[in-house]
Parts: sequence; C-alpha cells; structure tokens
Amino acid sequence: MSKTKFSITTAIDYPNGAPHMGHAYEKIVTDSYARWHRLNGHEVYFLTGTDENGQNLVKSAETAGLPTREFVDRNVELFRSFCSKLNISYDEFIRTSEPRHHEATHKIWKILEAKGDIYFGEYEGLYCGNCEAYYTELQAPDGKCPAHYKPLDKLVEKGFFLKTGQYQKWIIEYLKANPGFVNPELSRKEILSRLESEPMRDLSITRPSKGWGIPVPGKPEYVIYTWFDALINYYTASESKGYWPNDTHVIGRDILWFHAVIWPIMLHAAGIPLPKQIYVHGMVLAADGRKMSKSLGNGVDPMDVLAKVPIDSLRYYILRAIPSNSNGAFVLEDLLKRHQSELGNDYGNLLMRVVKLARKRIGDSIPSEGMPLAFDFSSFIAEMNEHMEKREHHRALDRLWSEVNRVNGYINDQAPWGLKDDQPEGRKKFIEVIYNGLYGIDVVSQVLATFLPETGSKALASLGMKPGILELKARNYILADPPVLFPRLEPAKPA
Ligand code: ME8
Repeated sequence: MSKTKFSITTAIDYPNGAPHMGHAYEKIVTDSYARWHRLNGHEVYFLTGTDENGQNLVKSAETAGLPTREFVDRNVELFRSFCSKLNISYDEFIRTSEPRHHEATHKIWKILEAKGDIYFGEYEGLYCGNCEAYYTELQAPDGKCPAHYKPLDKLVEKGFFLKTGQYQKWIIEYLKANPGFVNPELSRKEILSRLESEPMRDLSITRPSKGWGIPVPGKPEYVIYTWFDALINYYTASESKGYWPNDTHVIGRDILWFHAVIWPIMLHAAGIPLPKQIYVHGMVLAADGRKMSKSLGNGVDPMDVLAKVPIDSLRYYILRAIPSNSNGAFVLEDLLKRHQSELGNDYGNLLMRVVKLARKRIGDSIPSEGMPLAFDFSSFIAEMNEHMEKREHHRALDRLWSEVNRVNGYINDQAPWGLKDDQPEGRKKFIEVIYNGLYGIDVVSQVLATFLPETGSKALASLGMKPGILELKARNYILADPPVLFPRLEPAKPA
C-alpha cells in the first residue's frame, strides 16, 4: 500500500536582516506538524525558503554598503543556519532567485497573459514601500499603513495588472463552499467580510526594473511584483516532486490576504489546483502586548534566548504558551519558569528517577515479556491527532503534558522505592512498576520528539530506542545513563 502523503510549507522569509522571533515561531510550528505526520508514518514534504526578489532588498543592501547579490546571499545563510539551530526538519529550501523559480514564474505569467487575464495599464493608489503593497481607503482610513503606521504614498504607476477584480465573486463563493480552506474560522470570516464590503481592484503585478527581480517576459524594463512571484515558490518547488497541491501553507495573519485571495485567484485563473488549506497562526508579540519592534526596543532575539536555555525550552514555550491561532506575548520569565518546572521537574525528573532506579535494582536490560501493561494510550493518541488536525498544537501540548503527569502520578502512587526485594511479591511488583514507568516514558517521549526532537531523541536513547514511526506496543528496553535534559538555571546575578 502506498503511504499517505503530506506536504506543508512555511512562508518564505525576506532576507533583509537576521531572522527574528516571528520566523522562529512559524518554523517551529510548521516543523512540529511535519514531524507529527512522520510519526504517523506519512510521507512528508516540508518546504521553506527565502523571498529574494523584493525591491526593498536593493535598498537594504545599499544601506549595508554591499552589492545586492552579496547582501542577500549572506543573509540567506543566516536563515539556513537559523533553521539548523532550531532543528527544523525541512526537506527543501527554495530561494526565489533560483533559475527554476524564474522559469515557473514565467510559465504562470504566460498562461495568464495568453488567457487575457494580464493587461497593461495605469494604477493610482495608496502605497507602502515597506510592505511593497497598495492599500485601499477602507484598509487605511487615516492614510497610514496599518502595519508600519507610516503615511502611505499616493502613487500613479504604469505597469501590468492581473484581472483579480473579475474573480471576486468566484473567490467569495469558493471560501463559502470550502470552510476548511482557511483555518481558523475567524480568519476566513475576516477575509470574507473584507471581500464582501468593497469591490476588489485589479492587482498591479509589475514594478519598474532597478535591475533586481524577475523581468517581465518580453518587457525587461519591468520586473514582476514580488508577491506575484513569491506565492509561486510553493508550486515551483512542490510540483516537480509530486507534492502539488500542498496540503497546508502555514502563514502569519499579516499575509492572509495574499494567501487566501490572491494566490487562489492566480491558480484558479491559470487552471492549476489550489492548496488544500491555509493555516493562519497568530503573531508573537512583545511582553508588553505590542508588536516586537527595533525602535520600541521590546523585541526578544531568539539567539539571546538560545544562549540561556536549550533549543527545546524555546520550542516548548513557543508551542505551548502561545495559542495556535491568536496573537500571544513572548514573556522570557514565563519561558524560564516552564523550563524549570514543566520540562525539568515534570519530564526530566521522571526520566531520571525511573531509569536510575531501574539500573540500580534491576540492571540495564528490562524485557517486556510477561509484563502486564498499566497504560492504554489509544485515547491519548486519538486526542492528540484531533488537536493536530484542527491545527491546535497548544492543546496537543496540554494533552501531552497531562499524559506526562499521568505517568508521574502512576510512579508516585505505586512508590516502587518502597517495594523491597525481601517482601513477598516485592521484587516482581517492583519490576512491573518500573517496566510500566519505562513504557510510559517511551510513549510520551516518542510523541514529544515531534515537538522537542532533541529531548525526545535523548530520552529514547536512554531506553535503547530511537524516534521513528509511533509504536504503542510493549518493547524491550536496554537502559543507559539518562542525561540532564533541562539543567537548572543559575539565578540571575544582581545588576
Ligand atoms: O511576509 N509573529 O516575509 P516575512 C509570528 N516574504 N509570525 C511572524 C511575525 C511575528 N511577530 N513576524 C513575521 C513575508 N511573521 C513574505 C512572505 S510567502 C509567499 C511570502 C511571519 O519575512 C509572517 O507572518 O516578513 C510570515 O508568515 C513569515 O513570518 C515571514 O515573514
């Protein structure tokens, strides 16, 4: 039987600076879904990459005093090494400066042009240079960019346009007929309400060329608008591998319009099947509840966090403490607390005390034969699946933690340290309790490895196991010294 396929993507990041906490958030979330599907034995394709054709990159490179190509190449390396620090298990990293992407973009351009969906004209509108996007008066009633709070420029531009307006009725009907297409429901409603409240203008899809970007076929004095090409990255990379249409595009809510309206229209117009789902996560906010920003100085750099705690403490915090579909504040003190109590005490100590006690009184080999099982994990796994299907990973983590604490509760109730070898049945009962403790640790660690891969893998190694496809059956354990997974943090030195 062929394996179930699952493909998932992150947005492609602008490499005009170092990656920030928002990038960390999106990659860790997407990685967990990819790993979850691998745990379930699915054939997974996980795509990430960088968005390299924007005109802003030319400006940022000038400010940095570097040629644009050199500036972009240098920053793309920062994103790649960032992914490896965060243990992001992507299968492919696409750069939109690659020739294959230019070709795919031209292919779609030409299909749309041949259909008559692209025309040359003039556009007047309110433009934000940072977003590289036009805003309508409804979106920006005060004339300021809703993302950057700066006054918008009134621009009149000649260029090419995509007839998005003529697909307005179609996209409204599509979003209504396919309630699962945009998740969560609130985001779908938000988009529908915008679509139903104002007529959609055609989209300006070129900019005058400054020698950077993808030239318009046959009109090299223009380059293709960066959003038009950026969206195509998913198709460029996935189609040739047999993963188009993708199952899930993971994006932040600031880029919902492009993914839930423009992208489906482009694909529909070009006669290409649509992705199955757009999953919209919330934005990571600063501890003061405002957007993290350099000028406000309220940001937290993921690299500073990683200098203090292991990567899995950051992953855990991001996945559990920030709700999967609403904005959430990043509070470093809360992360440090959870590192100590939930990760160190609940999970790390569980592993430590059971494995140490087992090795001390039984030895390294703990076979499953003849062991009555104290746990049935089937409803736990079914509930985990439900949460992950709904893209509510914070609830999945809550559920996983209740299972960690169930295993902890079992050990505390059975109190194996009180079962003495010279008591009648004492040794037999001791071995059974220890076996079940190990079995519980085994299953929760296999599941945990999808969220905290390094931790799961180290914990399983101390049972003689490796992460792989989920195994719920009793297994033979060969024990090794358990590592200290979440070292206690030094108290902060007074300033
Ligand atoms: O938007 N919290 O790139 P980008 C959570 N190149 N997520 C955040 C965030 C925050 N504070 N800040 C940004 C782009 N993100 C385009 C995408 S896709 C065809 C083109 C998310 O580097 C943001 O929502 O500004 C987006 O999903 C991703 O990070 C990349 O943002």
